[in-house]
Amino acid sequence: MLDWYDRNRRILPWRAAPGERADPYGIWLSEIMLQQTTVATVGPYWGAFMAKWPQVTDLAAASLDEVLHLWQGLGYYARARNLHACAKAVAALPGSRFPETEEGLRALPGIGAYTAAAIASIAFGHPAVVLDGNIERVMARLFQVETPLPDAKPILRAYAETLTPADRPGDYAQAAMDLGATICTPRKPRCLLCPWERACQAHAQGEPERLPLKRAKPERPIRRGVAFWLVRPDGSVLLRRRAETGLLGGMMEIPSTPWREAAWDEAEAAAAAPVKPRTWRALPGLVGHTFTHFHLELAVLVGRVDPVATATLGLWLRPDRFGEQALPTLMKKVARHALSGLRQG
Ligand code: ADE
Repeated sequence: MLDWYDRNRRILPWRAAPGERADPYGIWLSEIMLQQTTVATVGPYWGAFMAKWPQVTDLAAASLDEVLHLWQGLGYYARARNLHACAKAVAALPGSRFPETEEGLRALPGIGAYTAAAIASIAFGHPAVVLDGNIERVMARLFQVETPLPDAKPILRAYAETLTPADRPGDYAQAAMDLGATICTPRKPRCLLCPWERACQAHAQGEPERLPLKRAKPERPIRRGVAFWLVRPDGSVLLRRRAETGLLGGMMEIPSTPWREAAWDEAEAAAAAPVKPRTWRALPGLVGHTFTHFHLELAVLVGRVDPVATATLGLWLRPDRFGEQALPTLMKKVARHALSGLRQG
């Protein structure tokens, strides 16, 4: 496996060159960004963070707003808050150094079992058992595990443990992840190129893409809401900050009704608006956005309001300056929908 890694090494921006010492800060940053996000998306963000905050103490000294702003577009903003909290915690440790053990790493904000193992192994050379979705798939096929996920997890972990080497464990973990990402893919695995082809039980059995099995998921419910696009005569639009905790915590938003399963009628929605314009105009179409646990459909109501008595509602900003704010993707979609709806008259 390590031979395969050395021959097919994927050059990723956070990887140390062979023989070079890995920077724990860079490894940690990449692992947090890679949670739920692809390598291709993470690349430029990782570069931008490292350029702006080259060391953990620099990131710790930044404001949360600056961090959220540079994080914009990566999604799952709780990660950015934890990232900042973790940087502060590490900066406060002796020498501002990351702990080296899985246990020490796990005590930090935003670092779970997978991330602790990945950092311990890649940055510090500890033979920790690294198990992400890619490695789970590789193990399920290699050992033909027929138990569906997530029940299979402890079984897959036990197999992964038997394979984790004392020599170059970090390279081994990254090799296994790369194998899952490039060869042992969910569909159409490229078994001919796989260094483990001859050992693989699912391959021998002839249908490797059948594994891993997954327990049937409940369907995502749909929630509905109405967003209020409130415009002043100077073209500025109302934004406000969401509550610190919960979904999109602390991010800026275009105000809306609560999100619920039942549909809203216009009068009921209008009653929930932060300000009452003389008339509302409903834009055609809906803005759709999928979160982990539900799918959201937002209608948009446009209202023109007077500057008097609306100053304290939040931040009034012209849409061409929305880029200065940490607006989550959903809210960017709402803004795009509103602007194109208004352009079409
Ligand atoms: N996914 C998360 N961390 C990774 C790494 N270091 N190499 C390849 N894929 C990864």
